[in-house]
Amino acid sequence: MPHASDSHAAYFAFRALLLGELRTTVLTGEQLCEAGRLIYGRPEGLSLYGIPATGMEAAGIRLLGRTTIECCVDEYAAAVAEALTALHATVADGGGDTGEPLVLDLFCGSGNFSHHLATRLGVTVHAAELDPAVHDATAHNLTRVDTRTRLYLSDYRDLLGKHPARGPRDTYFVEPPWGPAFTPAGLDLTRTSPPVPEILDDIRHARAGMPCLVAIKTNDHIAHDSLAHSFAGHRHLRTITPAATLPHGANMDFHIFRLDGD
Ligand SMILES: C[S@@+](CC[C@H](N)C(=O)[O-])C[C@H]1O[C@@H](n2cnc3c(N)ncnc32)[C@H](O)[C@@H]1O
Repeated sequence: MPHASDSHAAYFAFRALLLGELRTTVLTGEQLCEAGRLIYGRPEGLSLYGIPATGMEAAGIRLLGRTTIECCVDEYAAAVAEALTALHATVADGGGDTGEPLVLDLFCGSGNFSHHLATRLGVTVHAAELDPAVHDATAHNLTRVDTRTRLYLSDYRDLLGKHPARGPRDTYFVEPPWGPAFTPAGLDLTRTSPPVPEILDDIRHARAGMPCLVAIKTNDHIAHDSLAHSFAGHRHLRTITPAATLPHGANMDFHIFRLDGD
């Protein structure tokens, strides 16, 4: 049986390849299964839109190297969607004409989180993706899936500008690229691109003082207490911690906050 540190070394080497040389390359079925094995311990652990890695090639799913590393897989996206659904039930309805809360996925990547939220909440989710290669692969994938996700090739600020606040159940998913914010010292949310505090300011300004919910993905090793600093003055509601499959610092956590107005 291979030693855990061998498979962790293989994970970090594969991660570097997917974020480097294969960044905008559509992965083969074999590479997707390898990613599932190295990241989640089994090929099927990499599963998006309800389709496991073992079936993605046959289903015509296109995943780029970077998105394979950055994505929120079904198991995690479903757990966060479930938690948000429960929280929505506790917040008074302040819906607009359609009665639907506004749900925006500001850095959508694969769009899998949007897909799960749209399905679980029964709403249209508006999703922004700035990288044309990621956008095109995701647009293609979403045609293969029954979803109420509306995808835009757009900067998240333009999406915010187009969608004014509807009510206190409005929900934003925030997951900017980590880049140099992710180091052995942990994930510094004030150094993501853009920095999380700046994104939260943009959301608050777009809402003219109306509170909302914000969900964010982090790793399991936050540097400099930067999550608490980024959300200072706002209320922490939930943290979702999937079972760890990688060394400390490389696993994912999700946090939900209530963002209060100005
Ligand atoms: C960490 S990934 C998000 C992964 C996503 N949650 C998923 O489940 O696949 C961040 C994504 O945001 C995109 N992005 C970066 N800057 C952006 C911006 N200013 N506006 C919108 N999208 C942006 C990147 O191209 C990348 O695909």
